[in-house]
Amino acid sequence: MFWFDRKNPAALFMDKRAEQHVLCDGRDLVIAPDQVADFTDMPFPDNTFFLVVFDPPHMNSLGANSWLAKKYGRLIGDWRDDLREGFSECLRVLKPNGTLVFKWNTTDIPLDEVLALVPALHLTSR
Ligand SMILES: C[S@@+](CC[C@H](N)C(=O)[O-])C[C@H]1O[C@@H](n2cnc3c(N)ncnc32)[C@H](O)[C@@H]1O
Repeated sequence: MFWFDRKNPAALFMDKRAEQHVLCDGRDLVIAPDQVADFTDMPFPDNTFFLVVFDPPHMNSLGANSWLAKKYGRLIGDWRDDLREGFSECLRVLKPNGTLVFKWNTTDIPLDEVLALVPALHLTSR
């Protein structure tokens, strides 16, 4: 959903799902990442990327079969632990002085609650 050019060889798209759906309006939804992997345990060495974009699911109110869940995934179970580990992995695979971009939508969960899960931000006051 997010990409201007998902096939640009300068970028690597990782998701834990590779699947296809037909949405309620008849459009095809194709989730075809370059690499299927879990953001809580990324298959990359430390200090790999100059830029990491972390765009996790952001809603915990969705039904499993809703079109929003099909498109964007959903937060379930111990999602705070998952996001905490995701942030930690993003920071691990970033090169020193690299940039982490985090995308969030506050419909279900306020931004402050999520930023509290970022290890590096515990050192700063906001
Ligand atoms: C908001 S969507 C964004 C996807 C992508 N950035 C895009 O724009 O198409 C969040 C994605 O995170 C994926 N996801 C959820 N948990 C994950 C995990 N533990 N590891 C990797 N991907 C995960 C979901 O499958 C979902 O496709």
